[in-house]
Amino acid sequence: MTSRVSKAVFPVAGLGTRFLPATKASPKEMLPVVDKPLIQYAVEEAIAAGITEMIFVTGRSKRAIEDHFDKAFELEVELEAKNKRALLDVVRSIKPANVECFYVRQSEALGLGHAVLCAAKLVGDAPFAVMLADDLIDGNPPVMKQMVDAYDHYNCSVLGVEEILPEQSRSYGVVEGREWAEGVIKVSGIVEKPAPEEAPSNLGVVGRYILTPRIFDHLRALKPGAGGEFQLTDAIQSLLSQEQVLAYRYQGTRYDCGSKLGYLKATVEYALKHHETGAQFRRYLEEREPQLLHSLAA
Ligand code: G1P
Repeated sequence: MTSRVSKAVFPVAGLGTRFLPATKASPKEMLPVVDKPLIQYAVEEAIAAGITEMIFVTGRSKRAIEDHFDKAFELEVELEAKNKRALLDVVRSIKPANVECFYVRQSEALGLGHAVLCAAKLVGDAPFAVMLADDLIDGNPPVMKQMVDAYDHYNCSVLGVEEILPEQSRSYGVVEGREWAEGVIKVSGIVEKPAPEEAPSNLGVVGRYILTPRIFDHLRALKPGAGGEFQLTDAIQSLLSQEQVLAYRYQGTRYDCGSKLGYLKATVEYALKHHETGAQFRRYLEEREPQLLHSLAA
């Protein structure tokens, strides 16, 4: 397997119940961090990794995602007429001309493994990325770029992992393996959401994967796993019997924007770095909470 990673699958069919009522009629992936929706951060990360085909696995109430990556004709005409060039650039750059978007429906919420399988026809026989927009990761270079570099080097599936606390194991796929090179772990097993005493390591999988197309055979053969859902983790465990899989400890800071607290942290950190709001927001925090600002990343 030597072809390059040019496709990314974005499972976006989840109900987003943790953000109700905000997510009753609009997708959680459209929640903005400062001024950009979560899904756009993920797509930009994919683009920075050289990925040009974006495959969204959508569900009901997700129309806004399609509209977001489509041309907004009336808006562009209006901005052009008012000569608002900067905003026009912002709107036009959401989907660069060389990027294509595809949509496929997951009509039942049967789990992440099922969602990825819905993209099988669009992915075809090529390695591909899976990116969960809930996990907003601030990395330099962007994390998917780091992972594509690892894939190009090792030519096998690569899972983005980070160190987690024992009490967090029930929220992650947890890998077992041994360090092969700096930050690269040869995976010998992976378990979905184990109890702390059963977790094989302190390395949790975050929402970034590069998978070889052989994963689809294993997804097709899946039986319901943790929570009664078809788990991507179980298909990866099964893939291990055929192929090498690596875990990659990425460089970057992850915000779990699937939780309110993670989302709020991301909002504060990105607002402090934002070219429009950064300086004023910092001043506001300094006045309001001088102690607190000390502990926030500069
Ligand atoms: C999913 C995966 C899990 C992974 C996590 C990363 O879980 O099933 O293995 O560690 O994403 O965010 P979810 O968060 O959708 O429950």
